[in-house]
Amino acid sequence: MHSQDRVFSDLNAATMVAGPAAYGLIHDAAVAIKDGRIAWVGPEASLPKQFKKFSQTSLEGRLVTPALIDCHTHVVHGGHRAVEFEMRLNGASYEEVARAGGGIISTVKATREATVEELITQALPRLDAMLAEGVSVIEVKSGYGLDRDTELNMLRAARALPDRRSVRIVTSFLGAHAVPAEHKDRPDAYIAEVCIPTLRSAHDEGLVDAVDAFCEGIAFLPDQLAPLFDAAKDLGLPIKCHAEQLSNLGGTKLAASYGALSADHIEYLDEEGVRAMANAGTVGVILPGAFYTLRETQAPPIDLLRKHNVPMALATDCNPGSAPMTSLLLTMNMGCTLFRMTPEEALTGVTTNAARALGLSDCGQIAPGQRADLAVWNVTHPAELAYRVGFNPLHTRILGGAI
Ligand code: NIG
Ligand code: FE
Repeated sequence: MHSQDRVFSDLNAATMVAGPAAYGLIHDAAVAIKDGRIAWVGPEASLPKQFKKFSQTSLEGRLVTPALIDCHTHVVHGGHRAVEFEMRLNGASYEEVARAGGGIISTVKATREATVEELITQALPRLDAMLAEGVSVIEVKSGYGLDRDTELNMLRAARALPDRRSVRIVTSFLGAHAVPAEHKDRPDAYIAEVCIPTLRSAHDEGLVDAVDAFCEGIAFLPDQLAPLFDAAKDLGLPIKCHAEQLSNLGGTKLAASYGALSADHIEYLDEEGVRAMANAGTVGVILPGAFYTLRETQAPPIDLLRKHNVPMALATDCNPGSAPMTSLLLTMNMGCTLFRMTPEEALTGVTTNAARALGLSDCGQIAPGQRADLAVWNVTHPAELAYRVGFNPLHTRILGGAI
């Protein structure tokens, strides 16, 4: 028997498995764990005999959910942009700041100056804040290097995080995040000469799980991104895309035509784009922290996503510009309060659908065969997780069955 094999008993399980019960809730439940995986979940009274010999841990009636998944972050980066925050409060828009050489490009400068070790050191406090809220899996993007060495260093820093903390990291190559000063006004050349060769190097080094891009007037147009997505396809890497955040340029449709895992932000998405996502099975990643920080007014088309059964995920977008936030619980609250998502959609968005946005099928639900990554909460109703503002009721985080 594996040393972590055990039964958690006396709990209420929000399994997030679709069915008649909201949240897939099972009252008075038990969860059996074997070899770091969930072996069984159900009403405690029906616990199969073979698990009765496992060591038992009572959770004293607490709520248990799948551990949370933050499926869109830029948690690895150099420096901060508090000054830009002040500029925006004085009336400058996010686009104006970016066009004046601030924005993403100013973080590029700070990130290029940092070593891998410094990038790790700067990311750890943010990572710790996420883990303290029951997060088990974090997606981390590159995209503040925009040159070969720094893009690789960001991904190396991301890959090193599980050596320092118990967390699972999934990486996205975001070389097409902005056009760097060296290639000003030559975005196509940047994609061909820097971005695609860097992607190939990063892939060779085993640093890339997916390829992301920023499709926007201040970044890249769909036609400029197509060669990058073709290169990703050649390497067998899935696509993600920051799309329709500030305007509707068709980034979502382009990404969906490559069978993208997700289209993220999507405030300006129209029904045609939603249909494209539905056909491709693309997840809509909703980022209320960026919407809030930039004081945006155009909300993502939640009703259309519902109408076409497009799965919705929620993520922090943790980054130094548009979303200096680390709280996935606050993100859930914002998804509900700002966009009228339901608390159940919010919890699905940081578990089942977040896993799907990352192409992961072994986490995000409490079901046999899934990794035993669980969050134990001092709450009685699952809606409390989205309802509270700035309060963290986590009791215990369980990873691979280990507390
Ligand atoms: O997801 N939208 C583009 N990229 C980031 C913001 C990057 C930045 O401002 O540093 C985002 O919001
Ligand atoms: Fe982002």
